Amino acid sequence: MKNIVILISGRGSNMEALIAARDKGELPVNIAAVISNKADAKGLETAAKAGIATRVLEHKAFASREAFDTALLALIDEFAPDLVVLAGFMRILTPDFVRHYEGRMFNIHPSLLPAFPGLHTHQRALAEGVRIHGCTVHFVTAELDHGPVVIQAAVPVLADDDEDRLAARVLQEEHRIYPQAVRWFAEDRLHLVDGRVQVSGAAADFTRLISPT
Ligand code: GRF
Repeated sequence: MKNIVILISGRGSNMEALIAARDKGELPVNIAAVISNKADAKGLETAAKAGIATRVLEHKAFASREAFDTALLALIDEFAPDLVVLAGFMRILTPDFVRHYEGRMFNIHPSLLPAFPGLHTHQRALAEGVRIHGCTVHFVTAELDHGPVVIQAAVPVLADDDEDRLAARVLQEEHRIYPQAVRWFAEDRLHLVDGRVQVSGAAADFTRLISPT
């Protein structure tokens, strides 16, 4: 069974979705550890309650981004992960760190990339007046919120939406697609071909265009 290490900075609801999928027998991975760069990340409690090893490595304790990433890499590798799963990990990563996990690190982002990389995606989607919004799981590359797309899910933007309602609708889809993406990885079904991801096996339901509201 493949080992995964999950990195969080806060709430950890995507991490929770992964734990729940594993507990239901829908995600054949060993969650070796959950690591946070913030000691007060709520997700740490959830992980500990689920019996998962937790570690805190506070970036504030390091003089530079490089020094933090070097220590983080060493900590992650103690758990020998096949896949590193960024789940609300709010750090910009150095190129050396990203290169080390090339082809074996996922991120989830709350927009239909390449639209709206960066922060405040729901607010920006509303300001642009887009009719469709969503979320993306992608392999991590050196460019922020960029990289080969594994899976996406879209939701409608409704006339009376505010940021919170839209965020909640997207988050529901995040919790559906992240376990799906990790499952494909665990099943060796993902292949990077010319910078794009191919999913092998049965015709996968890897995109559901518009979710019911
Ligand atoms: C999610 O919206 C995720 O897409 C983004 O950060 C948020 C993390 O939420 N990268 P949670 O900590 O998983 O609840």
